[in-house]
Amino acid sequence: MRAGTLNLAALPPLSLYVHLPWCLKKCPYCDFNSHELQGVADESRYLDALRADLEAALPFIWGRRVHSIFIGGGTPSLFAPESIDRLLADVRARLPLEAACEITLEANPGTFERERFKAFRAAGVTRLSVGVQSFDDAKLAALGRVHDAAQARAAVEEAAMAFDTFNIDLMYALPGQTLAELDVDLQTALSFAPPHLSIYHLTIEPNTVFAKFPPAVPDDDLASDLLDRIVERTAASGLERYEVSAFARPGHACAHNLNYWQFGDYLGIGAGAHSKLSFPHRVVRQQRWRDPASYVERALAGNAMASDDEVARSALPFEFMLNALRLREGFELVRFVEQTGLPLSAIKATLGEAQQRGWIERDAARVRPSARGFDFLNDLQALFL
Ligand SMILES: C[S@@+](CC[C@H](N)C(=O)[O-])C[C@H]1O[C@@H](n2cnc3c(N)ncnc32)[C@H](O)[C@@H]1O
Ligand code: SF4
Repeated sequence: MRAGTLNLAALPPLSLYVHLPWCLKKCPYCDFNSHELQGVADESRYLDALRADLEAALPFIWGRRVHSIFIGGGTPSLFAPESIDRLLADVRARLPLEAACEITLEANPGTFERERFKAFRAAGVTRLSVGVQSFDDAKLAALGRVHDAAQARAAVEEAAMAFDTFNIDLMYALPGQTLAELDVDLQTALSFAPPHLSIYHLTIEPNTVFAKFPPAVPDDDLASDLLDRIVERTAASGLERYEVSAFARPGHACAHNLNYWQFGDYLGIGAGAHSKLSFPHRVVRQQRWRDPASYVERALAGNAMASDDEVARSALPFEFMLNALRLREGFELVRFVEQTGLPLSAIKATLGEAQQRGWIERDAARVRPSARGFDFLNDLQALFL
């Protein structure tokens, strides 16, 4: 392997992401690598491809332990529990997992029943992330979701019963959404006392049906009021906003996502999955082939990787800040040096400017976004470009 120009004293924690790319129906706002299922997925062939992909990637992560696993999609809960069991057995046979390794699986309401959840738990999944989006039937229809509010509530109840910890995904600034409607969504979500809640601002992504036929969504002023209400209500029920869109009870922050935000390493396997991996003198980003059929074919031939690029030295400060400044607690200065292999002098002047604008707070050891910095996060991050 070529030498790079960085100097990483130690490698950061390593996570594993596994992408399962199928859904029952493509949602009109979604730009994830997810594909409408035509008939039945050949789960066993896809698992063969994932195993081949993982085996080919082992030399990149030799000797490293895995801190967390995230099985995302798409709709991973469409896969049979036996398939998830086999996937995790394949992973365990090839990678050493930390004893307390968090294993999250994404589930959609209406794609499972109670026994299925228990079986995912028995396969080793420790945390379920339920994609609810809204508890309002009209909003779910406007979002083109395949489930209704009753199915969403049932899914959350079942998740709470089968798992020690779980997450509810909601979106806000939905088509036509009022403050009163958001209140009902929040009240319903909080009535389940979720250990973790992720609430995303609905964004109109290019190349989606919503980009072509834009729905009427709340303007910036209303969206900002909606966010204020979210922050207020979640805090009142004991959830800490530890990241821009993530709220958790103490001890229930998502270890996997925290590792992304702390600029840790991750190996991503499966169609279109991204990886970020560190070596003593360089940091690389990789991506797998996006189209599921091509991915399977190429992975089985030992060639799952579509791109493998070294991150330029000059791009590292921005990439680090894109993640670290999303966290309420920000980052320790020593972590910047450890994780990027760059000296602190690389960001000294920009930190000074951010502080002058009132966007960060800092002491000798740590940098945190201020409340104002959180509100102007894109501008704050852009300073490091
Ligand atoms: C990749 S999706 C997978 C979860 C699952 N398939 C589902 O849709 O319920 C993860 C989450 O991203 C969020 N998301 C997807 N598209 C979004 C968009 N355009 N704007 C905001 N959030 C979005 C949703 O909350 C969703 O639950
Ligand atoms: S179910 Fe989730 S991943 Fe699938 S299309 Fe809808 S938002 Fe995207």
